[in-house]
Amino acid sequence: MEDHLKTLQQWVDESQRIVFFGGAGVSTESGIPDFRSVDGLYHQEYSEPPETILSHTYFEQHTEEFFRFYRQKLLAPEAQPNRAHRKLAELEAAGKLTAVVTQNIDGLHQKAGSRCVYELHGAVSRNYCTRCHRFYPMEAVCAGAGVPRCVCGGILKPDVVLYEEPLDQATVEGAVQAISQADLLIVAGTSLVVYPAAGLLRFYRGKHLVLINLEPTGADRRADLVIHDQVGRVLSQIRVH
Ligand code: APR
Repeated sequence: MEDHLKTLQQWVDESQRIVFFGGAGVSTESGIPDFRSVDGLYHQEYSEPPETILSHTYFEQHTEEFFRFYRQKLLAPEAQPNRAHRKLAELEAAGKLTAVVTQNIDGLHQKAGSRCVYELHGAVSRNYCTRCHRFYPMEAVCAGAGVPRCVCGGILKPDVVLYEEPLDQATVEGAVQAISQADLLIVAGTSLVVYPAAGLLRFYRGKHLVLINLEPTGADRRADLVIHDQVGRVLSQIRVH
């Protein structure tokens, strides 16, 4: 086992309150592209920048185009958890990991069996009528084309945090509490450029900060261990005792 894996294994063995903070890079091995890698979503050609399309204003003013982009680029109903998701669920089941804090909206951590997951940017599995607030599953949005509507006629809105929208306060508070009590924080598959999500790392007070990311991030210099590799490949080599 390479040195950095030996170090990570030792720190995992020593820890009882591990928190994992992840981003789109955790789901790329499940076939869901990330946003800012060279082949990521934000480098493909669209009529408008994706950050514009995925905004509250665009949802309100160009609802049909919003859903065309959303169905094509953000919904991945066939995606399955990968070895990173599975290892994190295993660490939680062994009582070593207390929470996953994710920026992803794909629900793959829960599909892998993780129970304590703070979805900072919401989830595609939850959709609500903007008029009567009735709940609808992802299938109600996947099916068909055009603007999905409630039986009352209201427009359905996915429970994902669009640009210009605030994060859910209870979710943020839960994530902050978990991070502030963690004895090991593993950050992976995120460019750490979107706030307030990336800012939650400042609440960490534990022993070691680990960064696992294909590309360098702004937090590398603060990390005690930086591994520039695939998060699934790294985590799959960690043994859970
Ligand atoms: N293993 C490790 N790192 C990976 C892998 C992988 N298999 N695949 C990609 N990466 C890295 C990329 O190098 C990149 O640095 O993951 C990072 C993903 O960064 P982004 O694409 O910016 O995704 P993320 O950080 O999650 O974006 C945050 O931006 O648009 C918003 O709401 C959206 O939640 C998203 C937020």
